[in-house]
Amino acid sequence: MPSPSSFSPKFAFAIAFSFSLALSSSSHSPLPFLPKFPTNLSLELFSSHSSASRHSSPSPSQSIAADLLSLFGSKHDAGRIPRDEARQIRSCLRFLVPPASDSLKGRRKISEKLIRTKLDEENEMVWWPPAPVMELARLAVDSGGDPGTIQRALDPTKLLVPDVEGLKKDKCELTRTPNGYRFANKDLNSYFEFLFELIVERAPSVGMNVSLNRYDLFHGHLFLASDSGRLGILFHAREYPAYERKRFPYNLGFCQTGSTVIYDDSMNLRNILWLAPLPSNVTKAWLAPGTLVVLDARPGGVIYEKLVPDYVDFVRTVYEDDFGEVVVDVNYLNLDNVAPGERIFIC
Ligand SMILES: *[C@@H]1O[C@H](CO)[C@@H](O)[C@H](O)[C@H]1NC(C)=O
Ligand SMILES: *[C@@H]1O[C@H](CO)[C@@H](O)[C@H](O)[C@H]1NC(C)=O
Ligand SMILES: *[C@@H]1O[C@H](CO)[C@@H](O)[C@H](O)[C@H]1NC(C)=O
Repeated sequence: MPSPSSFSPKFAFAIAFSFSLALSSSSHSPLPFLPKFPTNLSLELFSSHSSASRHSSPSPSQSIAADLLSLFGSKHDAGRIPRDEARQIRSCLRFLVPPASDSLKGRRKISEKLIRTKLDEENEMVWWPPAPVMELARLAVDSGGDPGTIQRALDPTKLLVPDVEGLKKDKCELTRTPNGYRFANKDLNSYFEFLFELIVERAPSVGMNVSLNRYDLFHGHLFLASDSGRLGILFHAREYPAYERKRFPYNLGFCQTGSTVIYDDSMNLRNILWLAPLPSNVTKAWLAPGTLVVLDARPGGVIYEKLVPDYVDFVRTVYEDDFGEVVVDVNYLNLDNVAPGERIFIC
């Protein structure tokens, strides 16, 4: 049912966007949804939406997003979620890294055998990342979720987003801004690069093949969670499916040109959530390890029903601003022969 919240700026923009698309591409029906926010207008509305929502009571999608985050929080936080709701959410989680509760058992086995496989090491990197990531995660929470914590961690050197995979030729502006930044601490860039690559490596285990290219996985939205200030990234794979008259009759503009991404059931798995470990805001303790999980947006599930807005249900988009304050986009551009971390562009 339409509710007053349907008339949020985001919704208004979806209409504006369809309208402008209708003007610019007469041969296709206007888009009923919005895969990404490609213009300045979008960014303004986008941020006014998120800042407005922070100061009013949470929308239904924000409540469910908060509950989802709580399930990955401390035992106390997780215990507050009604059992039935927790069960519904859990039924939509496809773990790329085994969940925290399994990790302790796994660890004992590992130390018994004194063997650490690559798999174990990668899991550890997500549960308990390298020190610079832990520090950023703690700063974010200690600051009460202040975006300045992230902004101050960036090296102020402006980097031109490179022209990869024929972006210029296709007139595709892939990133939110034409310039980007990197974190001053190189280990942070390498870590985010590692996350992109780990998603690709592990996605087949949940029934999806992901590629690091301009049509599929190239970005995630870094946010600080509304309640806790916890650091997280919502990755979006399958960003530009190919136009196909039967399966996907939607024109998504210049960035779709040349797409080889086929629209199929794997769209359900395009929203991928990373959470940094959760520090206590009282002691030096850590309350929960990090996590990397696919949010299954299959129709009928709670993610689809409550987190995917109606106007994007066909592309199954979960919006990052339901989780918290969106600070920057983390982009992975598939450059050849660069040093670790140099595929990352923060926009
Ligand atoms: C978009 O933003 C950029 C940088 O902030 C600015 O230079 C440009 O004029 C803006 N474009 C429009 C159409 O407002
Ligand atoms: C993923 O790719 C591999 C290798 O091309 C293929 O064998 C497999 O069936 C694919 N999986 C899915 C879910 O499409
Ligand atoms: C600590 O975090 C909890 C929720 O995560 C919050 O309710 C509380 O106000 C925070 N305390 C301080 C001292 O920031």
